[in-house]
Amino acid sequence: MLNEKVAELLNTQINKEFYSAYLYLSYSNYFSEEGLDGFANWYQIQAQEERDHAMLFVQYMQNNDAKITFDAIDKPASDFQDHMEVLKAGLDHERYVTGLINNIYSAAYDVKDFRTMQFLDWFVKEQGEEETNASDLIKKMELFGSDPKSLYLLDQEMAARTYTAPSLVL
Ligand code: FEO
Repeated sequence: MLNEKVAELLNTQINKEFYSAYLYLSYSNYFSEEGLDGFANWYQIQAQEERDHAMLFVQYMQNNDAKITFDAIDKPASDFQDHMEVLKAGLDHERYVTGLINNIYSAAYDVKDFRTMQFLDWFVKEQGEEETNASDLIKKMELFGSDPKSLYLLDQEMAARTYTAPSLVL
């Protein structure tokens, strides 16, 4: 049986991951409106990954007979000044999520819940990758974003991203 605080934090994380999916879909909408379909594709796939993350938390809680309660999903931002604002908000968001994962890990550690710690190990690694991806995008946009031809090529690169299901099996 899961510790009450750990279960509560895991339950909240389901909502946070679905919110992340919603947020990235909003970014995808923005880039689609801007005519950057490659970026729209990249964020749409990012949204799919976030939905997967949410489902992994659902599955983990179901596997542990923990009660799940869904809360309303917050409205994501949808008005942006420029491309860079979106990319920077994406990095800030991933750093925020890393903090949430670390917080659950810390609560599991406090009660010697090694099973949850092991489950979260995948997310700790994933957050490292997500932060790196988000910050790499900012660097690329800083380098190439102001030149239309380079931005076009960068958009092509973003269009090449394909969806892969998470490697974590519960
Ligand atoms: Fe589910 Fe991007 O963290």
